[in-house]
Amino acid sequence: MYFGKNGDAVPSRIQYLRDIEGVVPWTWWPHEEVGHTDESKREIQSLFGKSDAFDTPKPERLINRVLQIATNPGDLVLDSFAGSGTTGAVAHKMGRRWIMVELGEHCHTHIIPRLQKVIDGDDPGGITEAVGWKGGGGFRYYRLAPSLLEKDKWGNWVINHGYNAAMLAEALCKLEGFTYAPSDTVYWQHGHSTERDFVYVTTASLTHEQLQQLSDEVGPERTLLALCTAFRARADAYPNLTVKKIPKQVLSRCEWGHDDYSLQVENLPQKPPELGQGDLF
Ligand SMILES: C[S@@+](CC[C@H](N)C(=O)[O-])C[C@H]1O[C@@H](n2cnc3c(N)ncnc32)[C@H](O)[C@@H]1O
Repeated sequence: MYFGKNGDAVPSRIQYLRDIEGVVPWTWWPHEEVGHTDESKREIQSLFGKSDAFDTPKPERLINRVLQIATNPGDLVLDSFAGSGTTGAVAHKMGRRWIMVELGEHCHTHIIPRLQKVIDGDDPGGITEAVGWKGGGGFRYYRLAPSLLEKDKWGNWVINHGYNAAMLAEALCKLEGFTYAPSDTVYWQHGHSTERDFVYVTTASLTHEQLQQLSDEVGPERTLLALCTAFRARADAYPNLTVKKIPKQVLSRCEWGHDDYSLQVENLPQKPPELGQGDLF
């Protein structure tokens, strides 16, 4: 601590350069240190050959520098414009976790094969030698579903026409922590959390009579979460039912009841007529 020549300065902490590990980030990054476009093209060509090269790859050394400055081992690195997958490959070799997003086909032609080679220890290029990478780890690959919501011709948010009732029920199961497993025989079993706890999704507004009937069918040995657009009853009137409205963030942005929206979750699987089939909001 330094208190000034006469001991009357604001105390400040002095740290000497010789005591600091590594180098303070510098804004000038010469290609001798972080590579250049030709280098990255050669990296890609060594992985995929000349014919399958990617047009705008970044050199692994450049991403290595970025991740050195910004992350620690085990951190999560996101690249939502993954291209040929350089960020993920470098993050993986540096012991970081990663998420990459890519809308182009090179997800299949470049990213997955590249990361597979990194994992198998079959990618000797880029920073492999510098960081002593030998292979290992893994990844999961997901294809994003289309947006749940879309705008109709009047500009209102509605459930995407590509979605059917089963997909909405599945989404709500996920939201509520249930395993989606619709029963072929029991209309109110769309999913379960245990052997005796089920979830039922309907866009109908449920009356007291309908809820009472549900409660009778569920019986004393089982419990049910009923997700509906609205209900006309006291939610705590049924010991084996938890009655909830479909979450507002899903519902409030949707227009229900138009002829052409063809969203009939209550028909999944077949609903008996006494529960008011077609009683859509
Ligand atoms: C310049 S490249 C990235 C190159 C990458 N840094 C590398 O080293 O290979 C940008 C990528 O972003 C992708 N892309 C563009 N818009 C996107 C979007 N909305 N969602 C996901 N990927 C997108 C493009 O398909 C392209 O592959």
